[in-house]
Order: sequence, then structure tokens, then C-alpha cells
Amino acid sequence: MGVVVVPCGEAVESGEWAASGLTERWPLPEMKGNCQVVNHGVSHQLMVETQNVWREFFRLTVEEKQKYANSPETYEGYGSRVGVVKGAKLDWSDYFFLNYLPVSSRDENKWPSQPSTCREFVAKYNEEVVKLCGKLMKIFSINLGLQEDCLENAVGGDQIKASLRVNFYPKCPQPDLALGLSPHSDPGTLTILLADDHVSGLQVRKNDNWVTIKPIPNAFIVNLGDQLEVLSNGKYKSVEHRVIVNSSKERGSLAFFYVPRGDIVIEPIKQLITEDKPAQYQPMTYKEYRMFVRMKGLHGKSHVESLKLHA
Ligand code: OGA
Ligand code: NI
Repeated sequence: MGVVVVPCGEAVESGEWAASGLTERWPLPEMKGNCQVVNHGVSHQLMVETQNVWREFFRLTVEEKQKYANSPETYEGYGSRVGVVKGAKLDWSDYFFLNYLPVSSRDENKWPSQPSTCREFVAKYNEEVVKLCGKLMKIFSINLGLQEDCLENAVGGDQIKASLRVNFYPKCPQPDLALGLSPHSDPGTLTILLADDHVSGLQVRKNDNWVTIKPIPNAFIVNLGDQLEVLSNGKYKSVEHRVIVNSSKERGSLAFFYVPRGDIVIEPIKQLITEDKPAQYQPMTYKEYRMFVRMKGLHGKSHVESLKLHA
């Protein structure tokens, strides 16, 4: 059996997915922008051990962590947004960001050398997760009625970009005044999220409500990004999500971003443009899109919405 894609929603809560046998098939009518994947091929032990080394990293003293402080130019390294005022709410997260692909952007010397096994686990984990991304790109292509390598080629083939953002949300004395992450959609193609399965925190927007995602043990959560929405001409929708914090438990997550290479134009795939459904989004390179998002800051799904062409 290959990768099993499980749509997030009621079916997951009630465990019905196990019986529904959704193998390598994305049920389009149920698609709400994110899903969980099981039978994904990544070793469960590797997932747990990688989460553990990062938990240890975030427990180091601030002085130790500051040795990896990120710079505004590359964004790589450690950063803290605990207690940073953001609109009506405080931000409440620490993070570590590192580049993985292309290989030329990778600098293992910037990865934590403490705990001593961190670099080794990060390398193994990223190698496995990137394979999963490749499999999912095929599944999503087939489901759109395209050749299996269509989406992958559209985002740059073997020159795609990937990075890892490890999030750590400490306990928060007044969780109602803070957010781990403000509402946003991920700008790239796919995000493979591994979150602590015993502390919930991720919420997705469903109309005017925020729905808490209950992680399936040993599964990954997959968030569809803005570029997949554009490429699919709106058949897939990126998911608006946020993270809430907790007064009694800390929470960790690993977000692996699979994004287009910067210089190719991302636009709806030709075969998905029809007379009934002309191109819904304006073309833009991912590099330009990133700049645009960075300038405006996180703001729900406003960025991809503003690419929409209004006929
Ligand atoms: C992100 C993100 C969710 C989480 O890093 O973009 O949405 O649960 N993370 O940490
Ligand atoms: Ni996100």
C-alpha cells in the first residue's frame, strides 16, 4: 500500500478514514486545504528522535541558543518571538529556520551542534521528508488528471527549494492574549508538519470558525500552500491556519516547506484552464511573491486572494 491521504475533518475525528481506504487518492469534494498522511514511509523512530533533539535544543539557555541567532538577510538560525506585540495579540514562539535545498543553500555549520546528534537527525529527517514531498506531488498531479510529474516540473523539477522551520511554543501564562502563530497560509507549495501529538495547537479556518486539528499518531499533517492553489487554478485551496498556545503545556512542531525555485513563473497549469474556468490567478515568480508576503506580513489568505483575477 502506498501513502494514504486522510482529509482533515469529521471523518478523521471519528476514525472512519481507516475504513475508507483513501490510498493515493485525494478526494476532491472533501478537500479543505489540508490532510494528514499515514503510511508515508518515514520511520516513526526517526520522527520521534528528531522531535526529541529539537526539544533539547530549545531547552538550552538563551545564551547558548543566541549563538545561532538568525540574521534578517538569510533568516537562517534561531529566533524568538515570545512576547512580541503583534496587533491585539502577543506572539509566543521560538523557532529555528534552516535551508535544505538546493544543496548550494545548505550550510550544516549553521545547524545546532548541541545536542550532539542534532545535525545527523536533521539531515536524515529532511532526506526522508523530501522523498515524501515528491510522492505527494505525484498523487496531487494524478488527482488533477495530469501527468504524475506535472506539478513537480512546474515548481522547478530537481531545482526546487526546501527548508525546515522548527517551532517551539513555550507555556503561556495568559494564552488568550497570545498566539503561537497568527493566521496565515503557507506561501509555498506543500508544508509537511510534524506536531506533538499529545498537545493540540494547530487550528484551521472553516468559514468563520477555527477548527482544532487532532494529530493522528505517527502521521504528518500536510498543509497545501498558495502556489498549489495557483497551479491548480483554484481546484486546491491553500489552508488558512494559526497556532494557539497553552498555559500548562509547551508544544513543538517541525514545518518542512517545499517551495518553487524562485525564478520561474508560477501560473495555473494550461490543462486546467478551460472556457468555463479561465485562469483565476495572475502569474508571478515565487521570489516576487515572497517579497510581497514579507512586505505585508502574515495576514490570513490575503496574499493569494490578491493574485486573483477578477473577470
Ligand atoms: C508554520 C506553521 C504550525 C504549527 O510554521 O507555518 O503553520 O503547528 N506551523 O507549528
Ligand atoms: Ni504555516
